[in-house]
Amino acid sequence: MPLLIKNGRIITADSDSVGDIYCEGETITQIGRDLAAKPGTEMIDASGKLVFPGFIDPHTHIYLPFMGTQSKDDYTTGTKAALVGGTTTIFEMVCPARTMSAADGYATWREQAEGRAACDYAFHMGVTKFDDTSAAQLREIVKGGTASFKVFLAYKGAFGVDDVELYRTLKLARELGVIVTAHCENETLVAERQRELLAVGITGPEGHYQSRPPRVEAEGVHHLCTFAELTGAHVYCVHTSCEESLSAAVAAKQRGVCVWVETLIQYLLLDKTYAERGGFEGAKYVMSPPLRDARNQTTMWRGLMTGLVSTVATDHAPFDFAGQKPMGKEDFTKIPNGIPAIEDRVNLLYTHGVKRGRLDLQTFVSVASTNAAKIFGLFPRKGTIAVGSDADLVIYDPDYRGKLSAKTQIQNIDYNAFEGWEIEGRPHLVTVRGEVAVRDGKFVGTVGRGRFLQRPATHG
Ligand code: URP
Ligand code: ZN
Ligand code: ZN
Repeated sequence: MPLLIKNGRIITADSDSVGDIYCEGETITQIGRDLAAKPGTEMIDASGKLVFPGFIDPHTHIYLPFMGTQSKDDYTTGTKAALVGGTTTIFEMVCPARTMSAADGYATWREQAEGRAACDYAFHMGVTKFDDTSAAQLREIVKGGTASFKVFLAYKGAFGVDDVELYRTLKLARELGVIVTAHCENETLVAERQRELLAVGITGPEGHYQSRPPRVEAEGVHHLCTFAELTGAHVYCVHTSCEESLSAAVAAKQRGVCVWVETLIQYLLLDKTYAERGGFEGAKYVMSPPLRDARNQTTMWRGLMTGLVSTVATDHAPFDFAGQKPMGKEDFTKIPNGIPAIEDRVNLLYTHGVKRGRLDLQTFVSVASTNAAKIFGLFPRKGTIAVGSDADLVIYDPDYRGKLSAKTQIQNIDYNAFEGWEIEGRPHLVTVRGEVAVRDGKFVGTVGRGRFLQRPATHG
C-alpha cells in the first residue's frame, strides 16, 4: 500500500525542512508540500515528529560462533530489535573459523540470514586466513555484491591473521577496489599481557582492560595504516575506543592513507569502571577493545562533530550474563567478548548526542546512517531521503520518554548494558522499503522480508 507521510520535519545529512513524503512500491517517489494521495494510500501524520532516513548499523554480530560459544540472537530477534530501535539496515561481519574456507563461511552466514531477517542486511567478508584458495573465493564473493572485507589483528589462533595474510588481503582489496574493515589490537601484546596477569593471580574482569591498554589498540591502528600506506588499500578501523587510536588514524590520514574511523555507542557512554564492577557484574561490560577512561568519550564526541570519526556502530555481540559470561568466571580471558546494543544505539545517540548538545541533527544523521551508506557503497539507495531512494524511514517522536531495560527489550539476551538509562525520544513508526515495520514501539513488520544488499566496489 502506498504511504503518504504528512507534515514531518525531514532531516537528512545536509537538509532540514518540513514537508510530505510519498512512498510507492519500495521507494520514495515524491517529496514536497501538500502532496495529494492516490486512493488506497495510508496517511501518516508526522506533524511534531522528525523524519530521518533509516539508520544503518555498520558493524553487527547477530550470528557469531566465538570463544567456545554462540551469540544469542538470530537474524529474526536481532533485526526485529534493530528495527524497533530505528535501524533499517545492518552490516553483519562474516567470521569463519580459520578451519573454514571463505566460500563456506560466506555461504553459512548467507544461509543464516536468508528468510529470517526483517530488515535489510549486507555483509563484510571476514578474511580470517589467506591461503592458496582464498583469492579466487574472495573475488567471487566481491562479484556477488559483498564489496568489503574484515580482518582481525587480534584473537590469536581464532580469527586473527598474520602479517603476510594481512598484506595479501590488502593487496587483493586494492586490486578489487574494496575497503578493508579491521579490528585493531596487537595480538602478541594481548597474549603476553594476559599470560602475565593470570600468573600473578589477576583473574577477574578487570584484568581484561589491563591486558589491552590503549597503546595495544593504537599499535594495531598504526600497524594497519602502515600496511594500507604500502599497498594503497582503503581501510576502516572498527570499534575505535580511545584518543591514542584516533591520533594514530589521523596521523595516517595526514600521510595520505585512506582510513575511516568507526566508534561505538558503548565507548561514547560507558567507561572502564563498568567493567570493574564487583561480583562478576563487570563481565557484562567485557568487550574488545575494552571500555576506556571517561576522558576518551570527549575525544570521540568531538571526533564525530569534526568528521574525524565517521560512524557510530554497535558491534552488537550478545552473550548471556547467566549462561555465557561465566565461562570466564575463573579466568577473564575466557569471558565471551561483546556488549549488545543493536536496539538502543539510535535512541542513546539521539538522547546523549542531540539532546545534550554534542551533535547537531545533520551530524547525527551522518554518523548513524549516511556516512555508512557512502563508505560501503549503498548511497543514495540507503542513508538519505530522496526521490528514488529506498523508502526506509524513521518517524521519530522527540517527546517520548522512557527507560531501557532487559525486561522490555527484543534483543535476545538476559541483560541490557544500559539498564535503567532514560531515553528522550524513540521511533514512532519505521518503514522498510515502503512497508511499515514498527508502530508505537512495536514490531509489526514481516520476518523474512529483509533483503541481502549487493554493493559495488567503490574504493578503486
Ligand atoms: O568484544 C567484541 N568486540 N566482540 C565481538 C567481536 C569483535 O571483536 O568485534
Ligand atoms: Zn572486533
Ligand atoms: Zn565486531
